[in-house]
Amino acid sequence: MKRSELVFRFPTAWQFAAFVGVLFVLTIVVVDGKEVKGSVPLDAWTFDKIMPFFKVALIKFDRVFAHGDKHDEFAKVAEAGHKNRDLLIAEINSADFAEKRNMDMHERYGINKDDVPVLKLFIRGKPVPLNYTGNFLADDIKRFIKSMGGVWIGLAACLEEYDELARLFTLEQDPAKQRALLAEAEGKVTDLKDDDEKRSAKMYIQTMKKLLEKGKDFIPGEIKRVEKLQTDKISNTKKEELKSRFNILHSFKEEL
Ligand SMILES: *[C@@H]1O[C@H](CO)[C@@H](O)[C@H](O)[C@H]1NC(C)=O
Repeated sequence: MKRSELVFRFPTAWQFAAFVGVLFVLTIVVVDGKEVKGSVPLDAWTFDKIMPFFKVALIKFDRVFAHGDKHDEFAKVAEAGHKNRDLLIAEINSADFAEKRNMDMHERYGINKDDVPVLKLFIRGKPVPLNYTGNFLADDIKRFIKSMGGVWIGLAACLEEYDELARLFTLEQDPAKQRALLAEAEGKVTDLKDDDEKRSAKMYIQTMKKLLEKGKDFIPGEIKRVEKLQTDKISNTKKEELKSRFNILHSFKEEL
């Protein structure tokens, strides 16, 4: 090997271009690799084919290679919704460079590229989707899907069967029938396998007891109280517990 070969030389323009090209491809592979399990990428054709099959669809309009905190929150929603066959979670990602992608769909729904990610909730039979305008946090988004779309999606700590009992309990005026629902809730605890579920079930039961005792004004007051506690300096365990309580209280406040 000649000595001169070991000396650093500036790359030629071609070498540099090749290097940038490789980096670019790597970036695409890495970033595009962050696809969301449970979410379907759609375009104008697949959108029209697939949408009629779902009662409710949450669609994220974004750029290609989306990533970051909001993308991660969206992924949590997709995970929570994966078992619900009435609910589709999907993405329409656009690119306005080179081979344009999905600009037609973004135009169709009036998406401004500086506003993405944008979430819209499509409800079968309604021609215009609902805009999501809340915080980009998984539980807030899930609550929106539940209350506006009328489909069940698991919020942290919530249990589907208990959410249904909570809903019935809230609609019920007759205390005797409410007590029967409470008894049903208590009876179901033994069917639960894991400790987290048991803990959640106890929160539902406790809430029903409080409602019987204090009447339905208990819920908004308690939600306010828990919200206030959440802003205090507290341990992570306590934070989780308050979040569970908060979500379960909301199950008793379903009808808007
Ligand atoms: C929803 O958002 C779209 C743009 O994405 C906008 O054109 C439309 O007016 C919004 N609808 C409501 C009810 O705010």
